[in-house]
Amino acid sequence: MKSHKFVLFGMLLTISVMAWAEQRPALTPLPPDQPRIHAPKVYGVRPGHPFIFRIPATGKRPLSFSAKGLPRGLKLDPETGVIQGKVPQPGNYPVILGAKNAWGKAAREFRIVVGDQIALTPPMGWATWYMSYTNISDAMVRAQASALLSTGLADHGYSYIDIDDGWNIKPQKTSADESPRDAQGNIKPGKAFPDMKALTTWAHQRGLKMGIYISPGSETCAEYTGSYQHERQDAETFARWGFDLLKYDLCSYTQQFLTGPDDMNVKKPYQQMGEILKSLDRDILYYICEYGFGDVWKWGREVGGNVWRTTGDLGNDHGGLWKNVVDIGFGQAGKEKWAGPGGWNDPDNFELGHILWKDKLQPTPLTPNEQYTHFTLWAISAAPLVIGGDLTQMDDFTLRLLGNDEVIAVDQDVLGKQGAPVWRSGDLEVWAKVMEGGAIAVAFFNRGGQETKVPVRWSDLGIQGKRQVRDLWRQQDLGVYDQELSLSVGEHGAELVLLQHQ
Ligand code: GLA
Repeated sequence: MKSHKFVLFGMLLTISVMAWAEQRPALTPLPPDQPRIHAPKVYGVRPGHPFIFRIPATGKRPLSFSAKGLPRGLKLDPETGVIQGKVPQPGNYPVILGAKNAWGKAAREFRIVVGDQIALTPPMGWATWYMSYTNISDAMVRAQASALLSTGLADHGYSYIDIDDGWNIKPQKTSADESPRDAQGNIKPGKAFPDMKALTTWAHQRGLKMGIYISPGSETCAEYTGSYQHERQDAETFARWGFDLLKYDLCSYTQQFLTGPDDMNVKKPYQQMGEILKSLDRDILYYICEYGFGDVWKWGREVGGNVWRTTGDLGNDHGGLWKNVVDIGFGQAGKEKWAGPGGWNDPDNFELGHILWKDKLQPTPLTPNEQYTHFTLWAISAAPLVIGGDLTQMDDFTLRLLGNDEVIAVDQDVLGKQGAPVWRSGDLEVWAKVMEGGAIAVAFFNRGGQETKVPVRWSDLGIQGKRQVRDLWRQQDLGVYDQELSLSVGEHGAELVLLQHQ
């Protein structure tokens, strides 16, 4: 009797797992055992500033790495694939990266550009905010960084670990040992972050980079201490601690100094911090967060920004997450003129995997199709790819969604073009992104409630003649097409292909 029950239970479990797997098709094939080196193909650093780059490569570990033509001052660890050092001389350095294991070897061209510009491709990484808001600590950040490595996500190019709001002390806590600044005015981390320098050193040893967060106002959005009247001092502290990215979030500055979202005085604090960051002795990627006020995309680059958020938060639960993905994701259209190497429009972090939603850490409320739309829109828009979910509990579906190297390569393409719509009809849209060597990435979207054919004509893309078509999510060739291509797209879903000359 008992064993029958177990058999029945087992069968039910198998059937429900199968049904679940069917509903959540993990389209990306698993990477092969042979080594493969992935995007980006180009990386910028300023002369004499610390260089940290972990070669993104898949394949059965252990891999053994090589790098031919590294400029003087850089050194590769052949076991980890981490390149570190400093290059004093500006210049364009072509390098051949290599990786091998018992199953084969791979080589790939890579260019190190030592000059004024950083963020030559959109930054990729993970941030604390959508997983845990202000409930963060050194231990939690290390656990997430370790998971970025152990899940293999870092092998696809994710490299920044960003600490968002909540790492320091609230201004109202003024008892001696709890004051947010020391006697010299230096900003102090909260108790949960006992040693910032040790934390960034630990991350750098693993080839990861680290981000920190503050506001130009007196308080951050979650009411922690801001940089107001300590801007240079704080930036210097962040550099001394070893941070590689600063998210500068408007927050209280709005109420303190602005009359509204159109007040162009919003430029002032960003200009100021841009100048300060440029004067430091390390590269700090400048992430402007002011929700699109004063059309930030028009001047973000001019004030030194490398990334600027174009809208409010993706995670605000007003009309539901799908509505936000649609509004914000499709809302990137029209801003493509301002994106490019060194400066990117940002529609906010991915709400994928386990995220804090309705005050609970739980799987994203987006359906699988909606998740493909979320990622596809971000990739075709050359948006920063920053994971918001808990890396310590990633399921196979989410890992494959986040780790599709051919889709990521669209985002990371060296030309740095932001894709744009080329055709629209009701709930259907087709977007295109011109890539290196004349290839075109084409995304098909269906916001409607049932599976529909979505067409694209070559005339919409400004091309003629036969093209080889590759399905990037499934990493499969679809064959040769002429004049047009129609794809069936599921409800709220997306497809992404690459058109190439034969
Ligand atoms: C704002 C930003 C978010 C996040 C929070 C932190 O809402 O837009 O990305 O940084 O502040 O409080």
